[in-house]
Amino acid sequence: MAKRSNISHTLLSSMYVFLCVVGFSECSSISTFLYSGCTQQRYTPNSPYEWNINSLLTSLVNSATYSAYNNFTVVGSTQQDAVYGLYQCRGDLAMPDCAACVARAVTRAGDICRGTCGGAVQLDGCFVKYDNATFLGAADKTVVLKKCGPSVGYNPDAMGSRDAVLAGLAAAGGNFRVGGSGGVHGVAQCTGDLSYGECQDCVAEAISRLKSDCGTADYGDMFLGKCYARYSVGGAHDESKAHDKSNHGGVKTFSIIIGSLAGVAILIIFFAFMSKICGRQGK
Ligand SMILES: *[C@@H]1O[C@H](CO)[C@@H](O)[C@H](O)[C@H]1NC(C)=O
Ligand SMILES: *[C@@H]1O[C@H](CO)[C@@H](O)[C@H](O)[C@H]1NC(C)=O
Repeated sequence: MAKRSNISHTLLSSMYVFLCVVGFSECSSISTFLYSGCTQQRYTPNSPYEWNINSLLTSLVNSATYSAYNNFTVVGSTQQDAVYGLYQCRGDLAMPDCAACVARAVTRAGDICRGTCGGAVQLDGCFVKYDNATFLGAADKTVVLKKCGPSVGYNPDAMGSRDAVLAGLAAAGGNFRVGGSGGVHGVAQCTGDLSYGECQDCVAEAISRLKSDCGTADYGDMFLGKCYARYSVGGAHDESKAHDKSNHGGVKTFSIIIGSLAGVAILIIFFAFMSKICGRQGK
C-alpha cells in the first residue's frame, strides 16, 4: 500500500510537470501555495477509508481536465467509510492549467494531511477539499486566511477606487468575479456548490472583512470556507510575480531538458527497432 501511494504520488507529480510543459502555462504562479488545513481525526492505514480517499482524489484530478468545478462522493461497502470532496479552479484558468493546479493541490494535500480523515489546500489557481463529514452544498463563512499588505496611509484616490472595485465585486452575480479601476484589481470567487444567494452572502462577508480588517493596506486577501475576495492597489504583490517569472524560466529549462531526454529515448528505441529488423533480414 505504501508502495502504491508512492506510485500514485509520482504519477501525479509527472502529470503536473507534463501538463505544465504541454500547456506552456503559468504553472509556477497558479500553484503558489496559500493555505492548508487538516482534520484532527486520523484514519487507520490500509483501511477501506484510505482506498476511498485515493479513489476520490483520483476522480478530482481526472475531472479537472474537463471542468472547472466538480464534487464527488465515494461510498465504499459501508456508509461510515464515505468520503466527500470537491475542487474549484479559478474562473479564468484554461483547462490544462486547471488540471495541473488540481494535480498539484492533491499532491500537496497528500503530503501535508498524511493520514488525516480530511484536508483542504488552496493554491493561487485552485482549491481542493475532502472530508468524511459532508460539507457539499453547505455555506461556510469561517475565516481561513487573512493577509493584508503594508498600509499605504490614507490615500483618498486609491481607497476610493478600492472601495468602488469591491462594491462592483459584491454586486456582480456569478461564481467568479473580476474588476478593476484606477490601478486597483479585484477578484472574488465561490466554490461551485453554493447557491446564488449563498455566494452573494459569502462574497459580501469577505468584502466587508477586507474593508474592516485591511484598512488602507495596498493589498488584501480574505479567504472564507467557501469563497474569497482579494484586491491589490497599483500592482502591489508584484514582487511575488517577478519571483514567479524566474521560477517559470526554471520550468522552461526543465521542460527543454525533459524534451531532449525524450528525444534521445525515441532515438534509442528507433535504433533498437532498426537493428532488430536488420538482424532479422540478415538471417
Ligand atoms: C469521521 O471519522 C472519524 C474518525 O474515524 C470519526 O470519529 C467521525 O465520527 C467521522 N465522521 C463522520 C461524519 O462519519
Ligand atoms: C455534485 O455533483 C453532482 C453531479 O455532478 C451534481 O448534480 C450536484 O448538484 C453537485 N452537488 C453540489 C452540492 O454541488
